[in-house]
Amino acid sequence: MNNKLLGGLFFLCLMLFSCSVKQDVNIASPDSNIQLSFTLDNTGKPHYEVFFKNKKILKKSSLGFDFQDKKSFEDHFEMIKSSKQKFNETWKMPWGEQAEVVNDYNELKLELQEKSALKRKLNIIFKIYNDGVGFRYEFPKQDNLKEVLITEENTEFNLTEDYKTFWTPGDWDIYEHLYSTTKLSEIDAKSYIPKTNLAQSYISENSVNTPVTMVGEDGVHVSFHEAALVDYAGMTLKVDTLNLGLKSSLVGSKNTVYKVKKTLPFHTPWRTIQITDNAPDLIASNLIVNLNEPNKLGDVSWFTPMKYTGVWWEMHLGKSSWDYGMEMEDGVWKDTGKAHGKHGATTENVKQFIDFSSKNNIGGVLVEGWNTGWERWIGFEEREGVFDFLTPYPDYNLDEITAYAKEKGVQIIMHHETSAATATYEKQQDAAYALMQKHGMHAVKSGYVGKILPKGEYHHGQYMVNQYNNAAIKAAKYQVAVNAHEPIKATGLRRTYPNIISREGLRGQEFNAWSQDGGNPPEHLSIVAFTRMLAGPIDFTPGIFNIKFDQYKKDNQVNTTLAHQLALYVVIYSPVQMAADLVEHYEANPAPFQFIKDVGVDWEKTDVLNGEVGDFVTIARKERNTGNWFLGAITDENSRTININFDFLDTDTNYEAILYKDGENAHWNTNPLDLKIEKIEITNQSKLTLKLAEGGGLAISIIKK
Ligand code: NOJ
Ligand code: CA
Repeated sequence: MNNKLLGGLFFLCLMLFSCSVKQDVNIASPDSNIQLSFTLDNTGKPHYEVFFKNKKILKKSSLGFDFQDKKSFEDHFEMIKSSKQKFNETWKMPWGEQAEVVNDYNELKLELQEKSALKRKLNIIFKIYNDGVGFRYEFPKQDNLKEVLITEENTEFNLTEDYKTFWTPGDWDIYEHLYSTTKLSEIDAKSYIPKTNLAQSYISENSVNTPVTMVGEDGVHVSFHEAALVDYAGMTLKVDTLNLGLKSSLVGSKNTVYKVKKTLPFHTPWRTIQITDNAPDLIASNLIVNLNEPNKLGDVSWFTPMKYTGVWWEMHLGKSSWDYGMEMEDGVWKDTGKAHGKHGATTENVKQFIDFSSKNNIGGVLVEGWNTGWERWIGFEEREGVFDFLTPYPDYNLDEITAYAKEKGVQIIMHHETSAATATYEKQQDAAYALMQKHGMHAVKSGYVGKILPKGEYHHGQYMVNQYNNAAIKAAKYQVAVNAHEPIKATGLRRTYPNIISREGLRGQEFNAWSQDGGNPPEHLSIVAFTRMLAGPIDFTPGIFNIKFDQYKKDNQVNTTLAHQLALYVVIYSPVQMAADLVEHYEANPAPFQFIKDVGVDWEKTDVLNGEVGDFVTIARKERNTGNWFLGAITDENSRTININFDFLDTDTNYEAILYKDGENAHWNTNPLDLKIEKIEITNQSKLTLKLAEGGGLAISIIKK
């Protein structure tokens, strides 16, 4: 062998050697549109980049962790192994926006190890879908790392352009902020001063909460969020306005230096990046649910998706109250006979809701203010021991009501306002859910208003993530489904625990009743549909007919037309959908109420027909079992004309369509009740051009003939 050949062989070996420990790897989505490249740079620091249709969406973004008492996971890594696999399955939603979900991705697993003596290990798993990227860290079992106290996760998402961004501040305690629309470089969460009355709020830095959605000059849409948030802190995204970067910033606690405590082995939630080239595809994306584990509860048919009415809006309007008016006498809270007489949850009042629901194809009645504790709640720091989830007020007969509801074919939805006093709720959970089971109640609305007790914890930190998840897991044992208000964000856990049915986690309808900043502006839900709704079902409580409610609150109103309120039953997805207004307001308006009576709540299929973030959206959904379709369109403060092609309907089928449209002169402020109802016949060949008023909407029921 001559020297030249030897040299060549040596070079080839070197090449092969460096190949076997290759420090950069690429992977693409099944349709090849999304590409991700992972690199360890020459300091052994992990980075990734993301491309969509060959355009760089995320530039070099690094990955790592800081620990309280250990050296950070930052650099000096080498790649021990990388492996790829394909995955494709179709799974069924027990209830949902669609019956079947395709879960199709390519996976890349990177096994990293520190070069230093401790040889600590960290794995990173990327899943590349046609609609985006999910990745998470795995801390595998290892000899030199048993437990970690994470002070920060350092996951970067460095954007390549100054996107138009739809964001809410990175509040550690509440998601009930209005959305701001600014350039990424102009986000200023710290100067965002909520003008409205929030029960709790903590904005620590210039960060945003997720989902945060961005629209690029060339129409690329990107939304950041997380999936499968379990035993970990919620992630906000800190904004670097100069470099157009986002970086994970976990929600902490005043009680510990660390933000997350974990024993190995464990993995983090998925960090998600949804990428599409139009707005409707963001809503159609199933990335978040797909990244969650399959159903662990099995058959949950004891929960049925339903519309519901309830003792609720009347209290937000001030017509009635949650509390009964008990008084303290001789150190005991009791009915001293001086009750103010405004209590809403009386046996008599609830029976009226049951009768109304029963007559109108509405499955449930929510009863807030049924249990003792409300007198002692508001304004009190010491909230532990106040609420009692077993004891009804003297004028509410739980046995009588549940028997009456059963007779009328209606379910009572339980209410547990925990007042964020977690120890009190935890202690009573078993008994409270067992009481529900005894009375055949299968859904609870829970609430976490106010600062968390124990003091120092925040709604979105690891402690509370566990509170919310554990409550839902425990509730499932009693066949109880949960709709939490003041919740932790939705991260697709409904796939794993399908008793997690809905939640608030946004500025809901209630703000229109009492907020001091004019309520939710007409554009609100045209933003929500492309941001908060990507996370999961929303208990927004639509259907306010008495838009101005001057009789109750002169300075407040709903800032949409009546047609817009109807459209929300289709646009905003939830398996529990409230008909939120007072019974008398529905009884006075039977014609538009017919839509609420008819509209479905559980869907075979969803088609997002058009939309632009913050401007408008049209969604059509096919009802399970009946095959009927319902369509909803909403617009922001601008009037616009939309074209609807009904080619999504079944072929060879005739339908009767009832259109609930904004009237000629409709306007969210000057003429919100102007509504025109029209019946026409349509097929899948039909096309319609329709005008939405300022703050307006359109609802159509499309019933098979
Ligand atoms: C806030 C919830 O969002 C609202 O729906 C509920 O009525 C009150 N808390 C009282 O629990
Ligand atoms: Ca709320």
